[in-house]
Amino acid sequence: MPETNSLGLAEKNGLVTAAGDGIGRASALAFAAAGARVLISDIAPEGLEETARLIREAGGIVETMVGDASAESMAEASVARVVELWGSLDFAHNNAGIGAPNAPFTEQDRAAWERIFSVNVFGTMAFMKHELRQMEKQASGAIVNTASMAGKDGSPGLSPYVASKWAVNGMTQTAALEYAARGIRVNSICPGATLTTALRTWRASSPEAYDAVAASIPMRRMGEPEEQAAAAVWLCSAQASYITGTLLNVEGGDGILGKQ
Ligand SMILES: NC(=O)c1ccc[n+]([C@@H]2O[C@H](COP(=O)([O-])OP(=O)(O)OC[C@H]3O[C@@H](n4cnc5c(N)ncnc54)[C@H](O)[C@@H]3O)[C@@H](O)[C@H]2O)c1
Repeated sequence: MPETNSLGLAEKNGLVTAAGDGIGRASALAFAAAGARVLISDIAPEGLEETARLIREAGGIVETMVGDASAESMAEASVARVVELWGSLDFAHNNAGIGAPNAPFTEQDRAAWERIFSVNVFGTMAFMKHELRQMEKQASGAIVNTASMAGKDGSPGLSPYVASKWAVNGMTQTAALEYAARGIRVNSICPGATLTTALRTWRASSPEAYDAVAASIPMRRMGEPEEQAAAAVWLCSAQASYITGTLLNVEGGDGILGKQ
């Protein structure tokens, strides 16, 4: 796929996790549209194959890997596969994350905390570790993690999710500092409410509740996965060459209100 802009991602190599739907699919499509080669992974094969089909249909280069992003073996194998296929790992979008059951702090059981932390924290940590090891050898690379606006503030009913996303942002800024002088940049996107499958289903079943939430956002709408993807791609691009450790709000102005 020819480069059609100045992102500097043409013929760069990278990976996107949880790319079978939502933000991950949009991100994989956007990296491929910028001319990059991308290894996409997901725990569910059907959506993953559909993402790969969409990329190939648009003339992009893509490989797939099915697996659970919480597993260290998956992180190690993903990085190794990108290098084996294409010779380097220039960018990585660690996007896999799961939600929390909505309940007050006192009713959140430890199993829920462990489930969420295994994907959101330990999965992201494992991917970052193996990506950084490879990027250190190259003395170059850019990582973007999908955090959340819930990783910057409190959010009633979502304590395990909030804590996990603060951890993602903490890992982002710590790795950014550790690797800034070694040619590696590490940033996060912090999505606000984004119209992925779960929110589209909720909009269809509870339109009034959906409209009330959308109306409370300064831009009066929720975000699109493509808007999250654009931010992730830009942070990994040459245009963001002096940006590291940034936790970028992509939330229609919602964060300004401090209501998360
Ligand atoms: N959608 C939102 O409003 C929103 C807001 C803030 C942050 N986020 C974050 O964005 C990221 C993506 O969210 P989304 O809403 O696009 O996701 P989604 O729920 O649409 O799911 C995307 C994909 O994740 C895959 N997946 C789930 N568990 C996995 C695992 N353990 N390993 C590998 N793949 C797995 C699913 O199979 C699915 O294909 C997550 O980290 C989420 O926390 C989303």
